[in-house]
Amino acid sequence: MSADAFVHVFEPGTDPAAPPLLLLHGTGGNERDLLRLGHTLSPGSALLSPRGQVNERGALRFFARLAEGVFDPAEVVQRTHALADWLETAAKKYHLEPARLLAIGFSNGANIAATLLQLRPASLGGGVLIRPMVVLDQSAAPGSLAGRRVLLLNGSVDPIVPLDHPPRLAALLRAGGADVAQQFLPASHNLTPADVAAAQAWLGTPSSK
Ligand code: MLT
Repeated sequence: MSADAFVHVFEPGTDPAAPPLLLLHGTGGNERDLLRLGHTLSPGSALLSPRGQVNERGALRFFARLAEGVFDPAEVVQRTHALADWLETAAKKYHLEPARLLAIGFSNGANIAATLLQLRPASLGGGVLIRPMVVLDQSAAPGSLAGRRVLLLNGSVDPIVPLDHPPRLAALLRAGGADVAQQFLPASHNLTPADVAAAQAWLGTPSSK
């Protein structure tokens, strides 16, 4: 697969010690949406940000939605592998080490970050998943996520993500050996300053920057 298979932005890093970030936007977003968040969460990181290829009445996404919270598992699997295949090519092109690459995903982007971890664990070193839900009820293969760190950030009054999904997703990822931290914030489905603070704390972002 060509590195141009997904429209994307790549911004080279300025700090070799900072982990490269894979930015995955939410429904209706695009490849530019999370660039500022990436800079805020990890100054100096290289940023790789693809655009979702599914068009839901003008709103771009990473996989289709049949209704709110209803998905076609076969389509999700196919889209996840397509993104992972592209990521392999893009990582080579931009000299990114997959084991250091952290996904920063919001909503639908968090959901495809989760399915990448479940189905293609070698694609990522972990990530921060903001408002994820269980899309594929499938445990990661034992040992496949060993050494990978994941932060799940959910809202306690989110009308889209049922309250039992975050602990269920944590269990599916822990089955693969991931080190999963999970927090419920007093928030709805939208990104809040508390998400930024929690992600920075988890990433160890220097407070002076
Ligand atoms: C999804 O479809 O992935 C979730 O419902 C989140 C969203 O995109 O609103």
